[in-house]
Amino acid sequence: MKFFIDTADLAEIRALANSGLLDGVTTNPSLIAKSGRDFKEVIKEICAVVPGPVSAEVAGTEYDQIMAEANVLRKIADNVCIKVPLTPDGLRACRHLSDDGTLVNVTLCFSPAQALLAAKSKAAFISPFVGRLDDIGWDGMQLIADIVEIYENYGFRTEVLVASVRNPVHVIEAAKMGAHVATLPPSVLRMLFNHPLTDKGLAAFLADWAKTGQTII
Ligand code: G3P
Repeated sequence: MKFFIDTADLAEIRALANSGLLDGVTTNPSLIAKSGRDFKEVIKEICAVVPGPVSAEVAGTEYDQIMAEANVLRKIADNVCIKVPLTPDGLRACRHLSDDGTLVNVTLCFSPAQALLAAKSKAAFISPFVGRLDDIGWDGMQLIADIVEIYENYGFRTEVLVASVRNPVHVIEAAKMGAHVATLPPSVLRMLFNHPLTDKGLAAFLADWAKTGQTII
């Protein structure tokens, strides 16, 4: 399972890139606004830090505008992945960009039918938003199970990129279902390390080691 990080915060990205766990980055207009930085500059810097796909989302909603913006964004770096909304114009742009060899991430997916359309449009990634479905009382993880099943039935090459992840349970459930990627807020990635018995066990080992009076180096 690949881990992407869902942020435009360069400090966070640099810190987590050192972990060797990052396979890519996703951003969206809200995350760019939160960073307070110039969109294209931030994407360029992220692309230099993380070699995997870096999703940069278009702001246009009409096909011509989406294509024009995508042409600007994909020139920033070889690992830019163009993020388009799951709309008729977004999917039309997805098909053209994919045929042209550009990675496309189709975002704002909330149904299996939408995911099927994205796969038929040759998206590299489909981004179903599990947390936002849970927030309105739906079952976000059931959407992942449905998409994985549909894609497997037909051998679609589109990768399921689990987005709007709120906690480690989302990550583990997605991994059990065979989702290809999860994009994690930095806080959730850090939570994956944690277990109270790890902390307790390490403290005990260190205390016992101190009693030996030895050093390794
Ligand atoms: O980037 C898309 C997605 O991960 C957004 O998550 O937390 O705003 O629902 P959230």
